[in-house]
Amino acid sequence: MVEPQQKSMAFINNMHSQLREITKPTLPAPPSEPAPATASSKPPSPRAAPPLEPPLSTAISPAQRRLRQAREPPLSTSATRPTQRHLARPAPLPPAQNASPRSAAAKRMASLSMTQIRAGNWSSGFGLNLAGKVQGGPTSRVGFKVFASETQATEPDLSVTVNGLHMPNPFVIGSGPPGTNYTVMKRAFDEGWGAVIAKTVSLDAAKVINVTPRYARLRAGANGSAKGEIIGWENIELISDRPLETMLKEFKQLKEEYPDRILIGSIMEEYNKAAWEELIDRVEQTGVDALEINFSCPHGMPERKMGAAVGQDCALLEEVCGWINAKATIPVWAKMTPNITDISQPARVALSSGSEGVSAINTIMSVMGINLNTLRPEPCVEGYSTPGGYSARAVHPIALGKVMSIAKMMKQEFDSENYSLSAIGGVETGGDAAEFILLGANTVQVCTGVMMHGYGLVNKLCLELKDFMKKHNFTSIEDFRGASLEYFTTYTELVRRQQEAIQKRKAIKKGLQSDKDWTGDGFVKESESMVSN
Ligand SMILES: Cc1cc2nc3c(=O)[nH]c(=O)nc-3n(C[C@H](O)[C@H](O)[C@H](O)COP(=O)(O)O)c2cc1C
Repeated sequence: MVEPQQKSMAFINNMHSQLREITKPTLPAPPSEPAPATASSKPPSPRAAPPLEPPLSTAISPAQRRLRQAREPPLSTSATRPTQRHLARPAPLPPAQNASPRSAAAKRMASLSMTQIRAGNWSSGFGLNLAGKVQGGPTSRVGFKVFASETQATEPDLSVTVNGLHMPNPFVIGSGPPGTNYTVMKRAFDEGWGAVIAKTVSLDAAKVINVTPRYARLRAGANGSAKGEIIGWENIELISDRPLETMLKEFKQLKEEYPDRILIGSIMEEYNKAAWEELIDRVEQTGVDALEINFSCPHGMPERKMGAAVGQDCALLEEVCGWINAKATIPVWAKMTPNITDISQPARVALSSGSEGVSAINTIMSVMGINLNTLRPEPCVEGYSTPGGYSARAVHPIALGKVMSIAKMMKQEFDSENYSLSAIGGVETGGDAAEFILLGANTVQVCTGVMMHGYGLVNKLCLELKDFMKKHNFTSIEDFRGASLEYFTTYTELVRRQQEAIQKRKAIKKGLQSDKDWTGDGFVKESESMVSN
């Protein structure tokens, strides 16, 4: 059933689309793209559709292509699966809007300034021809989306709706210690995090035996300096060692107490279809809003084909993702490992196998260091260590690279309205988050940042992200999501662009380089070329 609120929003979306056609973008024009033989010479706008169609015929396997061909066209709201819990309730509005006596739709209309309309919602792809891309979402698990900017007159709107899940801001607690139990997850909601992803659970916690110490930090400055800033963090922590039953009870309690907040269960299991199905079923019964699949834990149980052992093997991933997506009735995000040559390949497999989104990155395989006094590696457990997973600020540039690679693949091959990207890695500032969003991320996860700065970090992140948006006159996350992606190209293309630019600069150089360059025929023109008025 289409709600009146949805109708209003559809009307606003329509206005956005029409006005975008007749108004100029407010972003600075990008450097011109290489002109295709048939293209017009108009410099491309960052809001234009990508110039190239996806290389579908070469980039995907026949199995993936079959999957895509079998997929339905974009879904209307009436076609979405009615059994979804979140379909039954409209996406909640930010608190400030709920507090108003006026209707939410009327408020949105009133708050649509010309700036907002001009800035539009370009990257969400309204009205774009998405031919050649996977559209409509794989399994209809998602509910309707709120596209209109839910803004107040002056403040940028941080709210996002991803795979039908409405969040007050894009900041999500990444799976790990900040989502280990009821107390800390409640704290995260109370502090205002957009969503919480719980620590990864599996069916049998008795198999999970953690050691201590399990963390080691890298500080800027000299080896061993206790004063240097912490820039890197290694852990050899496994998934949750708490009984599944306890974790499930806590998920249920949280959803009862925070029905409008987004709680995502993170799950990992052995290479066993029945085990995955049981785990999905039990976690879903708690009322969580989505599932993140840990295909990326870098240590622990590779011999049992768990975590990164699956994420690093595309054939295995396709099979396990197939099981998971056939069973799950809520959106599924597949969490990718960076410990692989081309992360876009497993990301493509996960989306083609029915997942609604991908998350990236998990930690990077590392050895934190050797203690130069004891000559033993860190973190040191009874004199020994094992390679662990690296996180925090030092991994941010690597995470940006991996996210960029996935985002490029998704932009070419998957419909951006139905498939989502959750970026992770070294986020401690609103600027770090803005970078991920500029590459195309819908949400931004933070794990180690919370371990270092506490749950209140979300307030700083929101303020800094809003400052960035105000500076550029962006009113919603969609206004700038993916805006920087097209500025990545190949090295060969950089060389071509530079040579072209040098030729252009030479061509407009006025005057003669030397008196020997005067000619008899062009004498008058040559004289004019050196006149200044
Ligand atoms: C101590 C620790 C434990 C973690 N445990 C999990 C986990 O159980 N499941 C998971 O998917 N990721 C886990 N992660 C990975 C984080 O969710 C995140 O992907 C990674 O740390 C990079 O983000 P960050 O720099 O914000 O921490 C863990 C990270 C840390 C530091």
